[in-house]
Amino acid sequence: PSDTGRVLSIQSHTVQGYVGNKSAVFPLQLLGFDVDPINSVQFSNHTGYPKFRGQVLNGDQLWDLIEGLQENELLHYTHLLTGYIGSVSFLNTVLQVVEKLRSVNPDLIYVCDPVMGDEGKLYVPQELISVYQQKVVPVASMLTPNQFEVELLTGLRITSEQDGLKACNILHSAGPRKVIITSALIEDKLLLIGSYKKTKEQPPEQFKIEIPKIPAYFTGTGDLTTALLLGWSNKFPDNLEKAAELAVSSLQALLRRTVEDYKRAGFDPSTSSLEIRLIQSQDEIKNPQVTCNAVKY
Ligand code: ATP
Ligand code: PLP
Ligand code: MG
Ligand code: NA
Ligand code: MG
Repeated sequence: PSDTGRVLSIQSHTVQGYVGNKSAVFPLQLLGFDVDPINSVQFSNHTGYPKFRGQVLNGDQLWDLIEGLQENELLHYTHLLTGYIGSVSFLNTVLQVVEKLRSVNPDLIYVCDPVMGDEGKLYVPQELISVYQQKVVPVASMLTPNQFEVELLTGLRITSEQDGLKACNILHSAGPRKVIITSALIEDKLLLIGSYKKTKEQPPEQFKIEIPKIPAYFTGTGDLTTALLLGWSNKFPDNLEKAAELAVSSLQALLRRTVEDYKRAGFDPSTSSLEIRLIQSQDEIKNPQVTCNAVKY
């Protein structure tokens, strides 16, 4: 693991606002990575707005871009990062991309955010669940599901911290050495739960971070979280706790700024979905002060 890396990031693009690549590329660049974005969709704005328009990339079009890179011997990546994927055919092509990148660099780290839904609502086709379970989880190095996505992947209901830890163990046995449940509401507390399996034989090191809940709804924060976890866990490859503390602390500073800025402009931040103040928070991304501490289990 080096200080810097080269990330292929396959995610959504929105013209306006910050989700997908728009919320992942800039912070990774700030953390010193070269980032090559492939836009899996190009939409006017995120899908939480009353309307959106744009184009969707299909699996063949994705593969075309990969072949273009290959023809010029440009397929050497240290990391692959994927987020929201809307169809089985696109997800299957992503699996081919993983294989291709690993044939060039066997040490490729695949960071997979298995975006399928949130708060009990599925927002991808049902058929994607089993493809994630059977084909994607086994090849991922680091997985960053939320509470609902962990439930879909493992079949466990997560209503306690013990449930969360058990689900992480199930996911480890399927493949990834690093599993982070990026947000779970358990007994009225917002938690990040992390689990890191240092060796095959030893049990995983597990921890939680309690996140102060801000009374507002944000979009793009899941994508930003995964990007920051990729970035910081590359700098601290054997210390997932520290990586998660830094990621969560950056997020907190950015979300506080976002709420303050909306208030100052005369909006009530609790009434609508807020666009994150990403560019304005670059100092907190580059040099986060740790305000949220991990607690080991
Ligand atoms: P994904 O969208 O990738 O499936 P997710 O559902 O965990 O993951 P979010 O709900 O956006 O994504 O949460 C990601 C992180 O954003 C949390 O770990 C937390 O740090 C921060 N976050 C999001 N909303 C809030 C909030 N209202 N208050 C405090 N922190 C928040
Ligand atoms: N990608 C697109 C195109 C979206 O419309 C949205 C949310 O509406 C997201 C991603 C989700 O972002 P996040 O889960 O990080 O809030
Ligand atoms: Mg969520
Ligand atoms: Na997540
Ligand atoms: Mg999300």
